[in-house]
Amino acid sequence: MCGIVGYTGTKLAKDVLIEGLRRLEYRGYDSAGIALQEGGSLSVTRRVGKVEGLAEAVADLPTSSTCGIGHTRWATHGAPSERNAHPHVSCDGSIAVVHNGIIENFQELRDALAAKGHTFRSDTDTEVVAHLVEDYYEGDLLAAVSRATRDIIGAYGLAITCAAEPGRIVATRKDSPIVLAHGEAGSYVASDIIAVIEASRDVAVLGDGQLADMRPDGITYYNADLKEIEPSIMHVDWDVDVAEKGGYPDFMLKEIHEQPRVIRDTLAGRMTNGVLSIDELGMSLEELRLIDRVYIVACGTSYHAGLIARQLIEGWARIPTEVEVASEFRYRNPIITPSTLVVAVSQSGETADTLAAIREARIKGGKVFGITNVIGSPVARESDGVIYTKANKEIAVASTKSFLGQVVSLTLLSMVLAQAKGKLTNDQVRLLFKDLADTAEKVELVLSDTEAIDEAARACKDATDAFFIGRGMGSATSFEGALKLKEISYVHAEAYPAGEMKHGPIALLEPGFPVIAVATQSPVYDKVVSNLQESRSRGAMIVAVATEGDEEIKANADYVIYIPKVRDAFMPIVASVPLQLFARSMAIARGCDVDKPRNLAKSVTVE
Ligand code: G6P
Repeated sequence: MCGIVGYTGTKLAKDVLIEGLRRLEYRGYDSAGIALQEGGSLSVTRRVGKVEGLAEAVADLPTSSTCGIGHTRWATHGAPSERNAHPHVSCDGSIAVVHNGIIENFQELRDALAAKGHTFRSDTDTEVVAHLVEDYYEGDLLAAVSRATRDIIGAYGLAITCAAEPGRIVATRKDSPIVLAHGEAGSYVASDIIAVIEASRDVAVLGDGQLADMRPDGITYYNADLKEIEPSIMHVDWDVDVAEKGGYPDFMLKEIHEQPRVIRDTLAGRMTNGVLSIDELGMSLEELRLIDRVYIVACGTSYHAGLIARQLIEGWARIPTEVEVASEFRYRNPIITPSTLVVAVSQSGETADTLAAIREARIKGGKVFGITNVIGSPVARESDGVIYTKANKEIAVASTKSFLGQVVSLTLLSMVLAQAKGKLTNDQVRLLFKDLADTAEKVELVLSDTEAIDEAARACKDATDAFFIGRGMGSATSFEGALKLKEISYVHAEAYPAGEMKHGPIALLEPGFPVIAVATQSPVYDKVVSNLQESRSRGAMIVAVATEGDEEIKANADYVIYIPKVRDAFMPIVASVPLQLFARSMAIARGCDVDKPRNLAKSVTVE
């Protein structure tokens, strides 16, 4: 969703800001803008649409400004339009603001400011911040911002600049990330590390309520009482080129191909001297033994990783486990006791609903364990323990490598719980771990020959609808397959446990209707094949994901995509990959932008 950048230094600010905004494009947005300090005043340029349009608009701008702020906006309050795009400015145009998050009491603030004579020019919640700061401004931007934030209720990441104070930007945050870095060319601020690491590998992560006072020669940090503090610094060891496509036509394909590496990195160092451990759990063996209920809370793709994990936790550790969409969990008064473990799964680590679910769980006294891809993210900070998925930065909006990292991490967690409960012996865990590690090679095999996947996708490319079916682990896998297809190809796709087909969905089948079935070798294989036959006899076009060597399936499917033989518990790790490739292939055949699907945002920071 929305992205913030800010820069003050020696370089031409418009170039630094546009480059920063390009790096944030992956988050999804509908408009963009920048404000530049220009000889005692501010010049603001905003455009609806892509950053490229904004870049063209400022290309010939006669500017020598070396200080400014920029933003990509994903509309919440007010339609996507130029007047609602950020930066927003105060009445006299001397204070400019970019904002991520939602100001919940904006109407009340707006009414009060309007009564004082302030004139508003947009429909956004953000604009009140510009007027509020203007109202408190007495020659010191830091003091005015600090005072203004005391009036604001809601979530915010803010970068603010003032024409009267050349080279100065003030940033602050609450529940919305802000990071900063200082390098030879000046000081940088952004809502995402990827837009600041060019300046330095040592990135300051601003804490809730803290403020950063940026000047070209350095950044000073303050707590909410304006006492100077040492910032919390995080060293980033991944390269800027993770944001480059590395020879692949799109980020999605690059990220799909990174998955064997993600599996290996996520498992690295977990098994020492034949014992599996997750040191970051933040829970003693005794505490693990006491767990008698698990909730997995997440949204979107991360929720599907949870569906897979439920079967492992219940199957191995025998602990009752529920998987719940985070936006529902928090509002239904879930039953949580001190022996409940809440596992929050989030690629970005900043999904608003997942964060709210964590807070709800903690208030009720449960233990919270986070699984996230982003170091230092709110999910990591607010959980009792955390596993990082080691996927590195994921740029394509549709999640692939993070999903696999989540499934592998949840699998490890399931094994550790089973071990602690005495349901799996150390020897059993060692055997499982070896098979889990082998999935990396199996995924490599899937990636080495994608012809059958592309052929099936070409055959389905004109479909308007598709079903994904499976049973057991195959059912959980199907849900993610359907989501991938709808996200990037805009084909209406639904997943059903295969046994449910005859309870409704089968009524929709017509000749040529694609039914994609996860029909790998498993205890429910025969049942899935029966369900396939029922669909096929109604004219559906069957695409089966099956286990290598299964010749029988050919009689029941129009297209067969083989995956290597794998233990059923780990089948989703391997079988998800052809489904990702299938969705991508279909999206490309339909002329869609696979990396930046319409209307979707990479991280959803509003409820
Ligand atoms: C958005 C993204 C999805 C993602 C979901 C949950 O909808 O487009 O790809 O699965 O948010 O995000 P999280 O960062 O919490 O995993």
